[in-house]
Amino acid sequence: MHEVDKGYFTEDNSAEVVISRIAESTDPRLSEVVAAITRHMHAAVKEIEPTQEEWFKAIQFLTQTGHKSDDWRQEFILLSDIFGVSMLVDAINNRKPSGASESTVLGPFHIPDVPELPMGANICLDGKGHPMLIKGRILSTDGSPISGAKIDVWQTNDDGFYDVQQKGIQPEFNLRGVFRTGDDGAYHFWGAKPRFYPIPDDGPVGKLLGALGRHPNRPAHLHYILEADGFETLVTHIFDPDDEYINSDAVFGVKESLLAKFDLIEDSERIKEEGAEGPFYEVVHNFVLAPEK
Ligand code: BEZ
Ligand code: FE
Repeated sequence: MHEVDKGYFTEDNSAEVVISRIAESTDPRLSEVVAAITRHMHAAVKEIEPTQEEWFKAIQFLTQTGHKSDDWRQEFILLSDIFGVSMLVDAINNRKPSGASESTVLGPFHIPDVPELPMGANICLDGKGHPMLIKGRILSTDGSPISGAKIDVWQTNDDGFYDVQQKGIQPEFNLRGVFRTGDDGAYHFWGAKPRFYPIPDDGPVGKLLGALGRHPNRPAHLHYILEADGFETLVTHIFDPDDEYINSDAVFGVKESLLAKFDLIEDSERIKEEGAEGPFYEVVHNFVLAPEK
């Protein structure tokens, strides 16, 4: 009998003795995952050497994280977000061919079944903030326009909240819309210039951020889900590079390729041409979808 199979526990063999208990008949992927987590968890505990009080504090933290979670609030996802794990899982599962637009986190504020709007519609229903025209094209990696691409977009209002965070305060579907491209792959719609806002920070994850001297803010961004037949679905954002939090996103969602340009248009000809009431921000951004594998 091997030493670990006797089941006698020592500080040195701790991980192996636990891993050896996994039955041969276990689903191989489950076995692999549990073994890796056991190995890394035991290594972390050996590095940290927690006191009993510290370990209990960690258990209490996880308990509070569970208590804060329900169908709407997912505190464990927030925990994964602030550790950069959500972004790492996203990166591993969205390796793109050269030239394709990069992905980033979905976040908790997407909702299904948002009404499809005519191209050029204004999704800012509360009239707050600086008007912003967003336009560009949805392209394939070979440069050809994608016809019939579905653009699902959502953003916060000028107070830094999504409509679903302020039911009864913001109009339903404020700053959300679904658009579909025509043969030229082009899109354009009006919104409001986004601003930074905090991730929900009234729970244990917010407390942890505070204890670590980290702020809870995400730099100004617009969310997108882009879908088209024959192409990989892209979940992404565009970010305002001039935002004060652009280099310290609380959830590590920023990639250099996702920075867009937010230009202030004050030229009266352009204002007239676009039918705007005054100066507006303009963002021109193309998205490139990877062909389905
Ligand atoms: C968001 O951008 O909507 C978001 C992403 C991760 C955590 C919280 C909010
Ligand atoms: Fe967001």
